[in-house]
Amino acid sequence: MSSLYERLGGTEGITAIASDLVDLHLGNPRIAPRYVESDIPRVKNAAATFFIAGTGGPSVYEGKDMLSAHRGMNIDNEEFMAVLDDAMEALEKNGIGQREKEEVLSILYGMKSDIVHV
Ligand code: HEM
Repeated sequence: MSSLYERLGGTEGITAIASDLVDLHLGNPRIAPRYVESDIPRVKNAAATFFIAGTGGPSVYEGKDMLSAHRGMNIDNEEFMAVLDDAMEALEKNGIGQREKEEVLSILYGMKSDIVHV
């Protein structure tokens, strides 16, 4: 079977998904306050390269690992679930199928202990 990277539409598809994901976060009252001081194009680029690299694509992710990126933020369960909801919505918006959504959900959920309450 082709890589998850390919099934998400390659670099172009994942870049669009990552951009939509960050836009959804900015419109989500549970998450938006976390990004008031962020450089949004930089966040979109980090999200895209993180995902391209993590799903078998050619990008090299040069950002922080998930533990260091979120340490000290004291992110709670509700915020974590809100991010997962936005991720599923961004995938749907880009026409990604159920199987791929489940794979992404499983990958993201696996990062929970590095992100919540650290
Ligand atoms: C599985 C879930 C998540 C993933 C995969 C993820 C991924 C990332 C990545 C790749 C970065 C960039 C790190 C860097 O630039 O070095 C980042 C930064 C950040 N994340 Fe997350 N994140 C997740 C969950 C969350 C949650 C639940 C929150 C809070 C609601 C959150 C808030 C932030 C903030 C505020 C930043 C810093 C943005 C900036 O640089 O201005 N993240 N995250």
